[in-house]
Amino acid sequence: MGTGLIGILTAGGDCPGLNAGIRAVGKSAHRLGMEVIGFLDGFRGLVENRTIRLDDAALSGILATGGTILGTSRDKPHKIPVANVGTLDMRPMAVENYRANHLDCLVCLGGDGTMKNAHRLTKEGLNIVALPKTIDNDVPCTDTTFGFDTAMGIAAEAIDRLHTTADSHHRVIVVEIMGHTAGWLALGAGLAGGADIILIPEIPYDIEKVSAAILNRERRGKRFSIVAVAEGAMPIEAAPPVQEGADEADGDADSGNGDGDGDDVEPLLPTRSALLAQELQRRTGIDARFTALGHLQRGGTPSAADRLLATRLGTTCIAYVEQGMQNIMVAVKGDGCEPVSLKKVAGKRKLLPVDHPWIDSARRLGISLGD
Ligand code: F6P
Repeated sequence: MGTGLIGILTAGGDCPGLNAGIRAVGKSAHRLGMEVIGFLDGFRGLVENRTIRLDDAALSGILATGGTILGTSRDKPHKIPVANVGTLDMRPMAVENYRANHLDCLVCLGGDGTMKNAHRLTKEGLNIVALPKTIDNDVPCTDTTFGFDTAMGIAAEAIDRLHTTADSHHRVIVVEIMGHTAGWLALGAGLAGGADIILIPEIPYDIEKVSAAILNRERRGKRFSIVAVAEGAMPIEAAPPVQEGADEADGDADSGNGDGDGDDVEPLLPTRSALLAQELQRRTGIDARFTALGHLQRGGTPSAADRLLATRLGTTCIAYVEQGMQNIMVAVKGDGCEPVSLKKVAGKRKLLPVDHPWIDSARRLGISLGD
């Protein structure tokens, strides 16, 4: 073991399970005699050197809590917004603070944008081990991410609840589900919640086919329909060609969202789903309503599955650090984990393959995917 002091930060949008991950990293590091400090508010805390000591007391009682005790932000070290200046490249400060704190390793809990920012910092000489988290489940090279299971449960429960009101009023209810440019969350929650129509970014939808599916249900005596729409879903005429996986090989280029850093998430036109509800009402003549689940999906208590996953990743992270591994993401692989180089992960996003088994299940159930 060549490591005595570990830094840890959480970056990008928060999600349930972050505290379980911090706790797992911290407790297993302590058992090996390592000390742990946390940087506050993501990479901004690293460049501003705002830290807290993560001793036993700080890690106590956080396993089941939502959010992150460290705070988070979407700030990127190479583009930190500074009042009256614009943005500044603060990678030198990140390096300076890493060295000033005598860190042997920095653990970053984040999504695809965090992987990219972490990879950039490894090129400046930092040793980083990253853990994949996001409700979107769109980090490549890992079976899944923590946060996803909790969000899927919340969205599925919301769809359950929408059934009774849609049924009572004989309405179409369009429910918008997060997931950014990926359809994992909408499809998973739509299947689990029994949505009648599920629209995802990976399959651009034809509004005529969506209306036909609703009218077809009506002909079969079903006087309501639930349309689960991913926030990134688009009608055929607006959709760019889907490019699965690779945005670029070495993780340096931009990925087409905001400035392409993943965690720099721009709002995905929430009005699109609201307009979809209006258009479906116009085309079917059935009263339609729209609801967006929004940040409800990211808040609150993590599910047992997410606590377990974050715990597995956090403890494995320290096992890898103990073995001297560097510049990797701890990926989920079946019941275990495997190290994947950050270079391989950075700059890519995992979309739903159109031949994915969940899509096959949806089609076999007669769920319309709008195509
Ligand atoms: O990446 C997680 C996520 O919740 C996406 O599903 C969503 O598009 C985005 O973050 C929302 O970002 P913010 O919390 O910054 O509004």
